[in-house]
Amino acid sequence: MKAIVFDEHGSIDVLKYRDIEEPGLQPGQVRVAVRACSLNYHDVFTRQGMPGIKVPLPGIPGCDCAGIVSEVADDIDDWAVGDRVLVDPVRYENGKMWMLGDTLWGAYAEYVVVSAEQLISLPADVSFDDASCLPVAYGTAHRMMLTRGDVNAGDSVLILGASGGVGTSALLLAKMRGASVIAAAGTDDKCAQLLSLGADETINYSTTDFVKYCREKTGSLFSGGGYDVVVNFTGGDTWARSLKCVKLGGQVLTCGATAGFDPPTDLRFIWTAEMDIRGSNGWKRSDLDQLLDLTQRGDFSPVIDSQVSLKDGVAAHQALEERKFFGKIVINADAPV
Ligand SMILES: NC(=O)c1ccc[n+]([C@@H]2O[C@H](COP(=O)([O-])OP(=O)(O)OC[C@H]3O[C@@H](n4cnc5c(N)ncnc54)[C@H](OP(=O)(O)O)[C@@H]3O)[C@@H](O)[C@H]2O)c1
Repeated sequence: MKAIVFDEHGSIDVLKYRDIEEPGLQPGQVRVAVRACSLNYHDVFTRQGMPGIKVPLPGIPGCDCAGIVSEVADDIDDWAVGDRVLVDPVRYENGKMWMLGDTLWGAYAEYVVVSAEQLISLPADVSFDDASCLPVAYGTAHRMMLTRGDVNAGDSVLILGASGGVGTSALLLAKMRGASVIAAAGTDDKCAQLLSLGADETINYSTTDFVKYCREKTGSLFSGGGYDVVVNFTGGDTWARSLKCVKLGGQVLTCGATAGFDPPTDLRFIWTAEMDIRGSNGWKRSDLDQLLDLTQRGDFSPVIDSQVSLKDGVAAHQALEERKFFGKIVINADAPV
């Protein structure tokens, strides 16, 4: 099959669009002809190599996909060739997590082999492109904002990195809850797109200090200033600064660290504001079911920046890494079922 493969970890140059032999099916497995694969920043981490996670080489990135079942193992009765499916990227076995585009070959490819238990039936009226956006970024945002986090009507919510996959989803979910969203991103153009998506205010953090903005707009901590919820999955040098934007008794929600996982912190703000810092990791199947249901009903629309064909997937990955996109980039494939 054709796939985007890396034989070693490294910069963008290690990614090659080439032929690679498809794996055979083991009992309990199915082959899915990928129709859409949405990109996540996780793909960059997988390509670069992550401390503590051993990715088998050669590797194929791509955690999120939707497609058509093209082959089933002999012991599979409940799925058939031709079924439309969304793939849950994660499965657990013997206490270990296995993930597509991480410890398993991913979906920057014509086909993926997954366990039948990872399949979710895809209704005919939900597109492959929309479905492929739901698991990693949107599922995680759903759990972070609504299950681990507690975003409510009337809350003020500051989202850093609001223009990406997790960010746009966090914005849509906060608005669905009736919160007021201050969306922060790196360019004026992205800020304009965030306003069209429903943000109440935007901050371009390349040109405006978001802490200063918060102070000027909301006042000091002891006069009721700050935001009820600060969403920070960027980490790095934004971490300690974002703590200064939390209201007394507010929450910080985090699910990632795009710009660095071991930043300096400032404990004074944590205790002084009596804030609650909540981590959130991934999604549960119920998050995906709810997102799929919302998408089918037309109450939730994935924000798709662009669709490209598999052969142009390396350029798409580069656009993701260089932050030249808004929402989600989707790779399409059309190999025979
Ligand atoms: N724990 C989990 O289960 C889980 C699940 C999903 C994602 N995550 C994590 O959540 C984070 C966001 O994921 P995503 O897929 O939404 O990423 P994404 O689509 O690439 O969006 C991230 C956005 O953050 C902003 N940003 C700020 N500093 C950045 C930097 N140094 N490098 C790159 N982007 C930077 C960029 O927007 P601007 O250009 O506007 O600044 C970028 O578009 C990642 O760290 C990811 O690993 C964790």
